[in-house]
Amino acid sequence: MLTKVPRGTKDVLPSESYKWHYVEKIAKDVAECFGFQEIRTPVFEHTELFERGIGETTDVVEKEMYTFEDRGKRSVTLKPEGTAPVVRSFIENKLYADAQPTKLYYITPVFRYERPQAGRYRQHHQFGIEVFGASNASIDAEVIHVAMTIYQKLGLEKLEVRINSIGCPQCKEHYNEVLKTYLSNRIDNLCGTCQSRYERNPMRIIDCKVESCQEQLTDVPLMIDYICDECRDHFEGVQNHLEAIGVPFTIDPKIVRGLDYYSKTAFEIITDEAGKKGTLCGGGRYDQLVEQCGGPATPGVGFGMGLERAILALETQGIVIPKPEGLDIFLVTMGEKAELQGFKILSELRQMGLRADQDHLSRSTKAQFKYANKLMAQYTAIIGDEELERGTVSLKNMETGEQSEISIDKIVDILRDKL
Ligand code: HAM
Repeated sequence: MLTKVPRGTKDVLPSESYKWHYVEKIAKDVAECFGFQEIRTPVFEHTELFERGIGETTDVVEKEMYTFEDRGKRSVTLKPEGTAPVVRSFIENKLYADAQPTKLYYITPVFRYERPQAGRYRQHHQFGIEVFGASNASIDAEVIHVAMTIYQKLGLEKLEVRINSIGCPQCKEHYNEVLKTYLSNRIDNLCGTCQSRYERNPMRIIDCKVESCQEQLTDVPLMIDYICDECRDHFEGVQNHLEAIGVPFTIDPKIVRGLDYYSKTAFEIITDEAGKKGTLCGGGRYDQLVEQCGGPATPGVGFGMGLERAILALETQGIVIPKPEGLDIFLVTMGEKAELQGFKILSELRQMGLRADQDHLSRSTKAQFKYANKLMAQYTAIIGDEELERGTVSLKNMETGEQSEISIDKIVDILRDKL
């Protein structure tokens, strides 16, 4: 146990971390191009925030949260998603008092006690964006465009944007009645969880993963056929804006999303390969959430994209992420005096911003060269007693094997020119 990561979690080793840097940088750069700024919120929050925000009858709240009592006997929960904490911060810090909209992005670990499998973890990471204070359909299209631009810049192909409208509280109320009537003579065939949701949140039943429940839903009435005129106009506006910028989409009336806060637009982005492993990105509008969490009525819309799934999709599609370059220079030192002199030069090189290193294990010259190769050093500088006496070092280009003797005082300048 001591030497094993907890089930559903994984280490990101140095051989992998550059992939994360690459994906995160593209995501941040794209979001910043669209006018978003970063927000960071704590990894844990008061449990109530998620119960209230996500909805008490969702799988996330009912079955998946990492909730515990802290030493002060307060119930806290590790973030099971990124939106509610940003909403809490938006309210607490009165960001609504600034000119709107507020456009925020974040990278965060997310914790859900799910059954682990490829692309599904108990700790995963999301890049997410949230926009507050804008209700026009153009911003929904913009949010989808941010996600698609990130995937395109990553080089991912075969992406599909699926959108739906799940209505506002008014049309939802009417639809829930229609849904309950449909489900009323099927209720005995539903699983226990669905039965318990029938009264409180019948829409959740549509999202149930149990096969026998899905069999009961073959001709279930769909929200999209019951949305009010305002929601319909808004949904058309989203489609018009997506068409205007050439983002292809399909309407999928079965999208309900696993979290309760959505209204109007709901969307998912999938790839062929991710089909089996789930969605790459999910999001939508949540116009009641800020008020529900105790803030002034403020519309909101955003998405969360799984970073593990993005990296997995890149690998599946054979997209090579550029590997970082190795060291600029490795100092091979021979003897104590040379080691000390090397340490001084090393410090100067690093101050200059060069990636430089030297041996700290008193290894043989051969072993030092071997280590320099492992670190993919472009140059090595060989410093020995003889060189020291002459005030020189031997600079070797590790790719061409070319070697030249240069003055110690000039090493920094010469390297600056060469690299
Ligand atoms: P979500 O659909 O629950 O939405 O998660 C967003 C994305 O996170 C998914 O599309 C998927 O890529 C990834 N994901 C979810 N669960 C796992 C898991 N167990 N393992 C690996 N990846 C996972 C939200 O969380 C909303 N907060 C998104 C949002 C932001 N809506 C509006 N604003």
